[in-house]
Amino acid sequence: MQLGAGDGERLRSVRLRALQDSPDAFGSSYGKEADFPPGKWAERLQNTGSRWWVAEEPDGADVGLVCVRLEESHAHLISMWVAPEARGRGVGSLLVDEAVAWARTTEAKEVRLWAVDQNHAARTLYAGKGFVPTGEVMALPSNPALMESQYMLSLIFRRARKEDVPAIVAMLADDPLGATREGDPADERYLAAFDRIDANPYDELIVAERDGKVVGTMQLTYLAGLSRLGAERCLIEAVRVGAAARGQGLGREMIHWAIGRARERGCAMVQLTSDKSRTDAHRFYGSLGFTASHEGFKLSLGQG
Ligand SMILES: CC(C)(COP(=O)(O)OP(=O)(O)OC[C@H]1O[C@@H](n2cnc3c(N)ncnc32)[C@H](O)[C@@H]1OP(=O)(O)O)[C@@H](O)C(=O)NCCC(=O)NCCS
Repeated sequence: MQLGAGDGERLRSVRLRALQDSPDAFGSSYGKEADFPPGKWAERLQNTGSRWWVAEEPDGADVGLVCVRLEESHAHLISMWVAPEARGRGVGSLLVDEAVAWARTTEAKEVRLWAVDQNHAARTLYAGKGFVPTGEVMALPSNPALMESQYMLSLIFRRARKEDVPAIVAMLADDPLGATREGDPADERYLAAFDRIDANPYDELIVAERDGKVVGTMQLTYLAGLSRLGAERCLIEAVRVGAAARGQGLGREMIHWAIGRARERGCAMVQLTSDKSRTDAHRFYGSLGFTASHEGFKLSLGQG
């Protein structure tokens, strides 16, 4: 349940227990927060940019805590803790869901958090919720011998569902090159292709969603290879931002997100090809750090 303005003492009690129980999971420390004056806890709850939730047992005992703080461009998930006696039964998962559901009601485009690299339980929990590493790392302020990594969950990007297929096909067709090669979005061959992509663990069709509408898409394929010691590489294909959503930074966010996802899988490289006529797209990828280091060769087989 969400804590209200009058729950300062309750917050103090569960937070101090968390800091005592898991000193190496948090940037702050018991020593620091135990000395906070009583008013500080009520103040934390009154901050309009933050929300705190506790997990409560039927007998009223508080066994979990999480906070979301709104930053300029994102929501920051902090202070995640589940009491040892309540671990492994979905409490952490529910707390993350609650925090993310609230973040979705704000202007935030993503939720970010930090987790210590050795914290296997937390990292698995967050990965299961779709968080991917951003590449940012730092030493844990309360114990600089430990490193922590930043993770983020997009509130915009998700795997496509079957009902998204017509909107995706419409975006593929709304393009000078696509217009010449796409057909009726309801054509069952599109649905068959979707089923095949969806069933393949090495393939992901992604959509960007805003206000319940699909406004962007891309396909990520994870390619196995023997070179570079058997490294996997991520191929980005069929990138489209819907006409009405262009020029607002969505494409850039989409590619950053794809790079994070590839990094999370341990891919050694992200690669893509872009038609030679798409000079604007080439500048776009160049600005994102891609280099046009290869020539792409294609041989049309004249089918489909
Ligand atoms: C990390 C923590 C919050 C997880 O809470 P929890 O209630 O035990 O987690 P859940 O039962 O909801 O587990 C959800 C998923 O997380 C993962 N997970 C949780 N504990 C795990 C563990 N010990 N090892 C591996 N995976 C684990 C699993 O994927 C699990 O899904 P599954 O049960 O379907 O396999 C809890 O261990 C904790 O409070 N640790 C100390 C404080 C801390 O590390 N906070 C995080 C700071 S970033």
